Amino acid sequence: MANGPLSGRVAVVTGGSRGIGGAISRILANDGATVAVFGLEADRDRTETLRASLNGSASRVHFYEGNVSDFTSCAGLVEKIIADHGQLDILVNNAGITLDKTIRKMTVSDWQTVLNVNLSGPFFMIKAALDHMIERNFGRIVNISSVVGHTGNFGQANYASAKAGILGLTKTAALETARYNITANAVAPGFTNTEMVALMPQAAIDIAKSRTPQGRLGQPDEIARVVRFLVDEGSAFITGAVYDVNGGMYM
Ligand SMILES: NC(=O)c1ccc[n+]([C@@H]2O[C@H](COP(=O)([O-])OP(=O)(O)OC[C@H]3O[C@@H](n4cnc5c(N)ncnc54)[C@H](O)[C@@H]3O)[C@@H](O)[C@H]2O)c1
Repeated sequence: MANGPLSGRVAVVTGGSRGIGGAISRILANDGATVAVFGLEADRDRTETLRASLNGSASRVHFYEGNVSDFTSCAGLVEKIIADHGQLDILVNNAGITLDKTIRKMTVSDWQTVLNVNLSGPFFMIKAALDHMIERNFGRIVNISSVVGHTGNFGQANYASAKAGILGLTKTAALETARYNITANAVAPGFTNTEMVALMPQAAIDIAKSRTPQGRLGQPDEIARVVRFLVDEGSAFITGAVYDVNGGMYM
């Protein structure tokens, strides 16, 4: 049994094997939580890599394969976590993808694929977890939005719309769950040093840095520590909030 402040808590982190999600899984596990990483087939090996980098907390990180854009998969996951670990206290909706094109070039399928993962996914996960959290009169939900959910972004109509949608989903979930000791908040990172950003052309990365007053990319750990703060039992009075972690890019 771990002795950290999150000891006894069970968390699920979607896309929690690498990047921002990996940093979130790490900080939650290091503080004593049992962490279910929910991800695609490719995330199985990445979760092993993550576990290998964890010292005492590796045994608290478990991989579950599935797809957040499929409600049956999300509902099955929640059931399995509760069967395996007895409860689910913390839900971090982190999985996300990009398919960048200008609106003129974006196909209907590009639009729908990104909306399905980045917006329907968090809705499906919240829907799947909520009855259980209400029953236990405890829950911490954190949805990962993005600075571009506030600002829009050239070539990201699908992604920016999903990330803006997450803010409405978060506030609505906060309103509907407030009386059950459940909080729902969003974290909106600026451009952060992960494989998602590594996929961008160097020129676009340079523009992102130049638009960031601090002149650099964020680090996954800098996002994860805010998520860690929000899932704390003591953060009970914070709900429906959006935490911007963006080096000053949007204020
Ligand atoms: N990196 C950034 O600059 C940045 C900025 C703002 C917001 N974000 C958001 O932060 C989150 C994490 O981003 P990242 O940069 O670490 O990305 P990443 O690509 O490194 O990791 C995303 C993870 O989600 C998983 N995933 C993708 N589709 C999935 C699906 N359908 N079901 C389950 N898992 C799935 C991937 O396999 C991967 O493990 C995303 O929601 C992203 O939109 C990132």
